[in-house]
Amino acid sequence: MSPLPENTLIGMCNPLLDIQTTVEKSFLDKWGLKENDAILCDDKHNDMFTELTRDFQVEYIPGGAAQNSLRVAQWILNNPNRTVFFGAVGKDQYGELLASKAKEAGVNVQYQVNETVKTGTCAALINGTHRSLCAHLAAANTFTQDHLQKEENQKIIEQAKYFYVTGFFITVCPPAILQLANHSAEFNKTFTLNLSAPFISQFFFDKLSEILPFVDVLFGNEDEASAFAKANGWETTCVKEIALKAAALPKKTTKPRLVVFTQGPEPVIVVEGDKVTEYPVTRLQKEEIVDTNGAGDAFVGGFLSQFIQGKGIEASVTCGSYAAQEIIKKHGCTVPAVCKYH
Ligand code: AP5
Ligand code: NA
Repeated sequence: MSPLPENTLIGMCNPLLDIQTTVEKSFLDKWGLKENDAILCDDKHNDMFTELTRDFQVEYIPGGAAQNSLRVAQWILNNPNRTVFFGAVGKDQYGELLASKAKEAGVNVQYQVNETVKTGTCAALINGTHRSLCAHLAAANTFTQDHLQKEENQKIIEQAKYFYVTGFFITVCPPAILQLANHSAEFNKTFTLNLSAPFISQFFFDKLSEILPFVDVLFGNEDEASAFAKANGWETTCVKEIALKAAALPKKTTKPRLVVFTQGPEPVIVVEGDKVTEYPVTRLQKEEIVDTNGAGDAFVGGFLSQFIQGKGIEASVTCGSYAAQEIIKKHGCTVPAVCKYH
C-alpha cells in the first residue's frame, strides 16, 4: 500500500443512514421521544421506522456522527484521503450508498461488512427548530476489534497521526477504542473523543472513564457537558467550570488536555490546561437556519481539518464555526458543492 498522506486522521464510529422527516409533537409522544435528544432505539421503535417510511415523505441522508465530521473535514481540506473511517455496515444498498457518499467526499472508508445484519439507520425527526434522533445501530453494532487487526488496517493505524472517536461508539466496541487510544499514547499521537450525547455519560460512564485518560482533545456541547458533570458528581452546571474540571482529570501522557465545548449560538468554550478562552459565534439570522442537524459534527470536522495541519486553536475554532454554519443553512449534515474556506 502506498503511504498515507501526511498527518492522516482516523475516525471510528457508527456509519448510519439518516431517515429525516418533519413530524408533529404527537408523533414524538407516541414513540416516547423527546424533542431534542439522541437515543438508541429499542424493539418498540421497529414499528416507528415502518410507519415513517410508509406514511411520511422521508429524505435519506448519509449520517453517523464521525462520518459526518470526516466528510466535512475532507470538504474543507479539498485533498482526498486525508481521513480514514472505520465502522461496520451491512451488505446492502444503504451500506453502498454510505460508502459512495463518503468516497465522493474524499473519505477513505474501510468498513467492516456484515453479511447478515442490515446497515444502521437513524431517524432524524424534525419538529419546528428541534430535532430528535433515534438510532437503530443494526450492523454498526456488530463492529469487532479484529477489523483493526487486519494487516492493511494495522498499516493505516501505524501511519495515522490523529484519531477521532465518538462517545456513541462506546456502546459498540470499547476494546477497539482502547486499542487506538493506547497506540496514540504510546507513539505520542493525538487522540480525540466526543461526548456525543447525554446518555453516554449517564449509562456508559465506566467505559467512558477508562478511555478519558487517553483523550488529548475532548469535544461536546453544553447538554453533554452537563451530563458529564453529573456523572462525575460535580455540582455545577457552569460550562466553563466543567471544561476546566474535565481538562484536569487524570491523563496518561504529559500533553495538556484540550476541552472544546460548543453551546449553539453562544460562545465556544475552550480550555487548554488551566486556561479558559471563549470564542464568540457569529449569529445566523433566523431565516438562514434550515436545520441544526449535524452542526456539532460539522464543527468538529472544521476544527480537525485545521488542527491536523498544525494550525492553532483559534484557527481551528474559526473553521469549526464556519463549517457548522454552512451545515445549518442546509438539510442534514450536507455541504455546498464548493468550499470557499481559505
Ligand atoms: P446531531 O446530534 O444532530 O448532530 P450534532 O452535529 O451533534 O448537532 P447538534 O444540533 O446536536 O449540535 P450540537 O449541539 O452538538 O452543536 P451546537 O448546537 O453546540 O446528530 C447528527 C448525526 O448524529 C446524525 O447524522 C446521526 O446519524 C448521528 N447519530 C445519532 N445517533 C448516533 C449514534 N448512536 N451513533 C453514531 N451516530 C449517531 O453547535 C455547534 C456549532 O454550530 C456552534 O459552536 C456554532 O458555531 C454553530 N451554531 C449552532 N447554532 C448556531 C446558530 N444559531 N447561529 C450560528 N451558529 C450556530
Ligand atoms: Na451533538
